[in-house]
Amino acid sequence: MGALLPSGPRVAGVLARQMALERAGPVLELGAGTGTITRGLIAGGCPPERLVLVESEAELAAHLRQHYPRTRLIRGDARKIDALLAQAGIGRLATVISTLPIKWFPLEEQRAVVMPCLRQLGPRGYFVQITNAPTAPVDARQLRINAARVDAVWLHFLPVQVWRFWLD
Ligand SMILES: C[S@@+](CC[C@H](N)C(=O)[O-])C[C@H]1O[C@@H](n2cnc3c(N)ncnc32)[C@H](O)[C@@H]1O
Repeated sequence: MGALLPSGPRVAGVLARQMALERAGPVLELGAGTGTITRGLIAGGCPPERLVLVESEAELAAHLRQHYPRTRLIRGDARKIDALLAQAGIGRLATVISTLPIKWFPLEEQRAVVMPCLRQLGPRGYFVQITNAPTAPVDARQLRINAARVDAVWLHFLPVQVWRFWLD
């Protein structure tokens, strides 16, 4: 699954704490995979109907559809998130939670994922991303966005860092 290990329930719990459920709009989960994080977000208080899952792999998308039938699933490439959200009629987002291997995406692909999300998040809306790397998973300086490491959890003897990115 990309360059990142599948996450465990502890990572899911840490990410669930990053959801701003008091904000309007759905919570967007990018790279939902087998649904480990999805399960944690629901356990953390997000109604499944408020979750929009994006997953590019057909088999994983089918698995998600079967196990999380009350969520909204978009099978597609997160690098086309602008078009995917428009096609799905999704506007304002509450929070974006990403376990994509975005650290390994070229800058323009990072831009194509992050910037449409930040526009739909609006002021004080966070794009939340985990990484196994010691440095930021998104090139915030090149994208001219704000970045902060906000949490960490140990998984398979490696620290998983949690980062937030935002516009203002
Ligand atoms: C590291 S796995 C994380 C899976 C799961 N969320 C977890 O934490 O266990 C990354 C997931 O992102 C998906 N993915 C990778 N690139 C993608 C892309 N461009 N668009 C949508 N999903 C993508 C992979 O298929 C995989 O399910």
